Amino acid sequence: MSSTQWLTEYAPLLVAYWPIITAVLLLLLSVLAYQKLFPTGNKSVKSPTTKISGTRDVDKSEHPLAEFEDERPDEAIAPPLHSADTPHVPYCPERLSESEMLSRSEAFYRKMNGRRSVRNFSTDPIPLGVIENIVKTAGTSPSGAHCEPWTFVVVKDTKIKAQIREIIEQEEYLNYDRRMGDKWVNDLQFINTDHEKPYLEDAPYLIIVMKQQYRIGETGVKYSHYYYEISTAVAAGFLITAIHNAGLVTVTTTPLNSGGALRELLGRPANEKVMLLLPVGYPAKDAMVPGVTRKPLEEIIALK
Ligand SMILES: Cc1cc2nc3c(=O)[nH]c(=O)nc-3n(C[C@H](O)[C@H](O)[C@H](O)COP(=O)(O)O)c2cc1C
Repeated sequence: MSSTQWLTEYAPLLVAYWPIITAVLLLLLSVLAYQKLFPTGNKSVKSPTTKISGTRDVDKSEHPLAEFEDERPDEAIAPPLHSADTPHVPYCPERLSESEMLSRSEAFYRKMNGRRSVRNFSTDPIPLGVIENIVKTAGTSPSGAHCEPWTFVVVKDTKIKAQIREIIEQEEYLNYDRRMGDKWVNDLQFINTDHEKPYLEDAPYLIIVMKQQYRIGETGVKYSHYYYEISTAVAAGFLITAIHNAGLVTVTTTPLNSGGALRELLGRPANEKVMLLLPVGYPAKDAMVPGVTRKPLEEIIALK
């Protein structure tokens, strides 16, 4: 039996309709090839009103969750932190005249230009209410997708302050003595610091700024905290501004290599990491600061 006879006997439909079957298969293949070549985006995202010309290579490190390379939260199953039904409410702040804007911004600049990092503290107490207002102000900071990825641990207890000092001084001794090298030590000489940090016990309060990589919901689901690092840094700026506004002083410190031990001492959960430590109080009567100046406007502004 020839192959044509075999086909006519066993696959009569294929023989009768082969032109149509071939056309359908070609059509399917073209659709698949088109989808592969021109993938469509997320249907729930509105297309922009302005035309985008061409495509750009996207730097994966710029993804807001890029920090989660190894330990990414349960993106697929976690519901949005804030409901899509969140109502929008009117926002009408007072509109200032141009002269009022100029004089207020000038006055605020002058105030902020008077801020200095202080490393010699008075032991005089300050009311807890002031610290609470300062922390509340930090909490008004913007954050990626309104995740508010921060905790401000306020330490008043003298024993805990002494333990913090011990941890930090031990690590700082190693940082200065061998870990960080001559370049680092030389670059910091103008500040006149060493591993000894008496302000950690002298200042009436220490605020430890914790950044939260994610939060764990009631069901145990991990919620991503977008841009948690940048958001917490912005909030720290608010905190420093609020401390200065209250007539108090601080020094922004990064307790190098002490983060884990401090987190443990303070009993903070695994999703939090120490970002900064800020002592808060009055300056000591004999407090001194390095006589550095700030870059002039022309060096920090780029008008286009
Ligand atoms: C991210 C950051 C980390 C800092 N770390 C330390 C620190 O560990 N110890 C310290 O004494 N000062 C630290 N400082 C304070 C700087 O030395 C200080 O801001 C700088 O010398 C400018 O002085 P000023 O704050 O008085 O304008 C830090 C500041 C920043 C913003």
